[in-house]
Amino acid sequence: MNQFGKLKDFILNKNTLEIIFENQSGFIDFINDKLIRFYEKRVRKSQIVKDLREDIVVNISKVDGALQIITSQNIIIVKDDFMTTIYNKDMEEILCDTVHVQLEEQKGNKELLQLEGHTVSDEKSTEKLITKKMHDDEVFFGLGEESGFLNKRGYGYTMWNTDDPSTHIDFYKSLYKSIPFFIGKHSKFVYGIYLDNTYKTNFIMGKYDPNCFSFGYEGGNLDYYYMGGSSIKDIVETYTKLTGRHGLPQLWTLGNQQSRWSYMSKEEVMTVVNNYQKLQIPLDVIHLDIDYMEDYKVFTTSNDRFPNFKEFTKELALKGIKVVTIIDPGVKALKGYHVYDEGIENNFFATHNNEIYHNAVWPGDSVFPAFSSQRVRNWWSQKAYGLAELGVSGIWNDMNEPASFNGPLPDDVMFAGDDGEYTHAEVHNLYAHYMALATYEGLKKTGKRPYIISRAAFSGTNQYSTFWTGDNQSVWAHLQMAIPQMCNMGLSGLAFVGTDIGGFGADTTKELLIRWVQVGAFSPLCRNHSALHTKYQEPWRFDQETIDIYKKYIDIRYELVDYIYDLFYEHLQKGYPVLRPLVFEFEDDEKTFNLNDEFMVGEFILVAPVVMQGQTKKMVYLPRGGWYDSETKEFFESGYHIVDAPLNKCPIFYKAGSIICKRPKKQNLDGKPEVLILEVLPGEGKIMHYEDDGVSFAYEEGKYNQYEIQNKDGSLTLDLVHEGFVSTYKEVEIRYLDKVVRIPFEKNFKVVL
Ligand code: GLC
Repeated sequence: MNQFGKLKDFILNKNTLEIIFENQSGFIDFINDKLIRFYEKRVRKSQIVKDLREDIVVNISKVDGALQIITSQNIIIVKDDFMTTIYNKDMEEILCDTVHVQLEEQKGNKELLQLEGHTVSDEKSTEKLITKKMHDDEVFFGLGEESGFLNKRGYGYTMWNTDDPSTHIDFYKSLYKSIPFFIGKHSKFVYGIYLDNTYKTNFIMGKYDPNCFSFGYEGGNLDYYYMGGSSIKDIVETYTKLTGRHGLPQLWTLGNQQSRWSYMSKEEVMTVVNNYQKLQIPLDVIHLDIDYMEDYKVFTTSNDRFPNFKEFTKELALKGIKVVTIIDPGVKALKGYHVYDEGIENNFFATHNNEIYHNAVWPGDSVFPAFSSQRVRNWWSQKAYGLAELGVSGIWNDMNEPASFNGPLPDDVMFAGDDGEYTHAEVHNLYAHYMALATYEGLKKTGKRPYIISRAAFSGTNQYSTFWTGDNQSVWAHLQMAIPQMCNMGLSGLAFVGTDIGGFGADTTKELLIRWVQVGAFSPLCRNHSALHTKYQEPWRFDQETIDIYKKYIDIRYELVDYIYDLFYEHLQKGYPVLRPLVFEFEDDEKTFNLNDEFMVGEFILVAPVVMQGQTKKMVYLPRGGWYDSETKEFFESGYHIVDAPLNKCPIFYKAGSIICKRPKKQNLDGKPEVLILEVLPGEGKIMHYEDDGVSFAYEEGKYNQYEIQNKDGSLTLDLVHEGFVSTYKEVEIRYLDKVVRIPFEKNFKVVL
């Protein structure tokens, strides 16, 4: 960071330290005990982070021309050029700025630099780099949904929301979402870095130089947050506090969802729903892709294919089915089309050289709303509310990178904002974020918790939306990649995530679909979706065995819905992901650092799916503590095991001491259960079970119940610790290995099994 030069002096003003260097000042904000911000003066304030400042004490002195800063947790040394090292209180190094030796040597070697992910296409390249020492044992997690493996060491990524329909492979640099946040872990230390910069940013995690990793930004300012703590959990908690958490979802959104590009008519949708119901495979949601619209014009419905749309959604509601409709940001440029006309009249669209900017998306010639402006969001939210008035229950925001068929939008396309205009270069990565906010504001007018599914995102979009991983393919490699992708999304604050079950592009097979639903049934978002012209992949498109196995896993999902819902409450409280890698629970166990084919749902359920064609045995790693096969209740010690995994079995383990909340099997999630089922395993465990109306925001006013449930080797206690909701529970069924006990439900009870 040689833009700073020699260290001269410093001024401490409350939490903010200004360090005066010969060329410009650098700043450090000591926000709280776990959060430190390093930055230079910004042109405009962050659009993402929350103000978490607390009063804390720092002690600063000048030692040998450097600054020594002592906080309650750290000692920080700052030298010339804003070179910073963060130590713990015993002067053990956690994170240390270094010179990117290889990069220095290679200056002028454009090819290598480009390979490494830096933009050096011309002399004007503005990329600024922060380079840190990489420890031999250092591993990295996070960075959102990027392709490849759980541990990001050795790879490089560019944060630039990208719609690239080709098959996503390990070394892809950019996908749909940009989450400039990662967790580093070495020896006994763990920390997080959030680069608060919305321009194109690069994260090169030791890809070429084994001694360092770097993150750089191509516009805007130096501004990053260091998060300290004693565990990955601490870091995720802090990061999600800084950038925002997902509120509780409506309960039905945790149900099974069926989609296809596209169900072309009302009749086709009815057939799909009737098939599900005939086969008794639970279903809550049907998604309508772009063909429900008239000529792909957003906020229209096709009279030919879906006449009387409101009646259609009503008919489905009577069958217990909700409708989610896709919307795309590109507005068809067509005089007489109300959305276009209103946008033109009010200057709602992005411009280029003072003219409305045009590109092409599904509707052909299209223009792009500037969601970064509150005026535009108000307008869009009204339109989204209009869909809700037609009986639509959730909205699917697609193509919001934004995608553009006639080449990328130039960097200097201009978008209106609330504090002046933004260039595309600055606001590209926030396009989906603001579109999600607008959609959220629209659906919130219904009084229900908005359900939005988005393809693109930035840090913080999680507050408004759920996500799927975009256009995967029906290939085994993408089923494999789904696991680390969802795990890293979870660690990056994205709580409600899923992949297209069966794969989107290309033709799925019976076996692939079955293995995929065995993963999808445990993903927060459980949706089967496939592309136009590919083989249909609803569960009945193959044979009876497929139907039976699909039903088995969707049934399991429905039994576990309250367990999953509890995890959403935990996310709201602490920022923990619903679906998480094993390292989140067992970070002192290095066998979990590179574990790409297992994941956990909460603290108790370990899922070890088969993700290889033809495999009927699975090598499973079980971390410390004992584990029980969820079906047979066979006990397993920690360690590696080769377990049977015929096509109809996904190995799932309950941790010793587990308390798993279940509900009786049903065909959809309407209504609340009268029986609380508690599946309990030998050992010790504790959970908070949460109960509310599953729909409204009343929980924000305390209208919920919370029960603390403890298990000590089958001695089970339940205590109501917060009461604000009239419980529907009448009975409790406790399952303990092969014992089943049913008792009337009471607010506090103890049972010895
Ligand atoms: C994009 C979406 C996909 C959708 C298609 C048509 O490719 O990612 O899910 O089906 O557009 O709308």
